[in-house]
Amino acid sequence: MTKMTTRDYIEREEKFGAHNYHPLPVVLERGEGIFVWDVEGKQYFDFLAAYSAVNQGHCHPRIVKALTDQASKLALTSRAFYNNILGEWEEYMTRLFGYDRMLPMNSGAEADETALKLCRKWAYKVKGIPRNEAKIVVCNGNFHGRTITIVSMSSDPDSYNDYGPFTPGFINIPYNDIEALEMALKDRNVAGFLVEPIQAEAGVYVPEDGYLKKAAELCKKYNVLFIADEVQTGLARTGKMLACDHEGVRPDILVLGKALSGGIYPVSCVLADDEIMLTIKPGEHGSTYGGNPVAAAVSMSALDVIKDEDLAGNAEKMGIIFRDEMQMVKSDMITTVRGKGLLNAIAIRPDAPKTAWQICLQMKENGIIAKPTHEHIIRFTPPLVINESQLREAIERIKKSFREMGI
Ligand SMILES: Cc1ncc(COP(=O)(O)O)c(C=O)c1O
Repeated sequence: MTKMTTRDYIEREEKFGAHNYHPLPVVLERGEGIFVWDVEGKQYFDFLAAYSAVNQGHCHPRIVKALTDQASKLALTSRAFYNNILGEWEEYMTRLFGYDRMLPMNSGAEADETALKLCRKWAYKVKGIPRNEAKIVVCNGNFHGRTITIVSMSSDPDSYNDYGPFTPGFINIPYNDIEALEMALKDRNVAGFLVEPIQAEAGVYVPEDGYLKKAAELCKKYNVLFIADEVQTGLARTGKMLACDHEGVRPDILVLGKALSGGIYPVSCVLADDEIMLTIKPGEHGSTYGGNPVAAAVSMSALDVIKDEDLAGNAEKMGIIFRDEMQMVKSDMITTVRGKGLLNAIAIRPDAPKTAWQICLQMKENGIIAKPTHEHIIRFTPPLVINESQLREAIERIKKSFREMGI
């Protein structure tokens, strides 16, 4: 049989798969640490890290071992029975993040849905909002996933067009606008404020210093739950364990996913205290795979790696180098270099002769894979295990690509 080429793999996916993604034309078959290799054997620096799921680096040996050990012992029981490791994981998580309880799910979107359901239950059972009247405030530019309810909150037509009718009960306000938030919170039927500490998918929009702190204070003042979606910003990505830690904010409901498993397995969860978490009773919410033994083992190992390898500290240091270096690229085609820790983006002038997509294709030629988010923004989010010499080499390749594109 003749060996399949990159083109063959792509054509097969195009032929048999749904067309709901627009991947860069590279076919990967192996990963280790910050590197991935394609089917032709070419090595790349991974500057997407699976949308920040692979903070710990590809195929981290400790996490892989946790996966294989647990998978060969007991993989799934469902929550119809207890298993001997879920409680250990729950205890681990609640101690690490400082909450009374955890509710495990699988994807980020499911964890966000869980947070919304918890918020509504709390609205009716604790806050005393009349049934079916609760509202949740969200921000324009948000990205919380792809379910019908979540796209009902979206301000991006690509996310919501032709998926209506939508779930009611959301109030959209501008991001990073404290006055708009206070106005919205004055409505007595508002139960929660759901926010990303940095809007990653929207293009890495970092709010003003103090925004999260003031927002959390306002939520307290109006008896509204502050719900932080840290699915992408959490777990060391921005230079702290949580992006909320930069402002000393403790969310009432914390949503985690992605790097909770280091990219090895879909794992997400919601953390909250008793007053909120215990509003959901047996049989009222769940997931067949949520809280399975493999997820528990993988997740504890993924978090051990984040702590033991001080990935937050490394993200902080490497992020400063990245932004300093990229800010030195003097080009009127770059409008901004922004970010925190190793969650960064470069915005290309909308009328520049080269699009973000074309620049990503050029970077691929030079052994860097990254992805545009929207038309003119490129996100740079390598695994957090990257060291300084690797980062500097990657930066040289990015700069070379920019020069080759006339930037
Ligand atoms: C902030 C945020 N929330 C939720 C999600 C959805 O996560 P998932 O794709 O695992 O459903 C994402 C995914 O990019 C995200 O960035």
